[in-house]
Amino acid sequence: MKPIISPSILSANFAHLAKDLEMINRSEADWVHIDIMDGVFVPNISFGFPVLKYVAELTNKPLDVHLMIVHPEKFIPEVKALGAHVMNVHFEACVHLHRVIQQIREAGMEPAVTINPATPVSFLKDIIRDVYMVLVMSVNPGFGGQKFIEHSVEKVKELRELIEQTGSKALIEVDGGVNIETGARLKAAGADVLVAGNAIFSAESPEAMISELKRR
Ligand code: DX5
Ligand code: ZN
Repeated sequence: MKPIISPSILSANFAHLAKDLEMINRSEADWVHIDIMDGVFVPNISFGFPVLKYVAELTNKPLDVHLMIVHPEKFIPEVKALGAHVMNVHFEACVHLHRVIQQIREAGMEPAVTINPATPVSFLKDIIRDVYMVLVMSVNPGFGGQKFIEHSVEKVKELRELIEQTGSKALIEVDGGVNIETGARLKAAGADVLVAGNAIFSAESPEAMISELKRR
């Protein structure tokens, strides 16, 4: 099975966002990854719903929305209004994760839980059957272009085992420092979805890089 490729527009040129979105539309990308930050949960701010309204209008691929914010449940209606396919919330940001996952599903979106590099896979044991996907952060969230954390490959293997043991159907997504080399190793370890920002947008041909990642 080829990996699902979800380009992160965090590394796009925001002055020419429409152009970068057109590139994604005609590429072999499967989804578009959208990183929302609040300057509280992570030490950075990206973009918010007034900008994303136009991003959603210009995109013909399913939206994979990654919320790096406190109280992500407050924004379920806004994410739904974008027409999102997946809503990713951080394990570390949700005191009542089970409730938030149900609320996302009730709103008609696919719920995903994201874990930071220091959060163990074993913490997902009691939620793994309820989620559409688990997003493993392979950098500390907040910035594009960071160095891949090697231990993430082990975490993907461990998560694959947990999914098999529990009969969960969850997809495994990885985000941060993904390139051709790390992408291939993550795929071999059991990843289904690869997010990439810097690797795509700093490439000479971003569209060709998306195809390259798809061949991992
Ligand atoms: C980081 C974001 C990522 C980021 C990945 O907090 O969640 O989606 O865009 O960027 P790269 O691929 O450049 O590491
Ligand atoms: Zn992300």
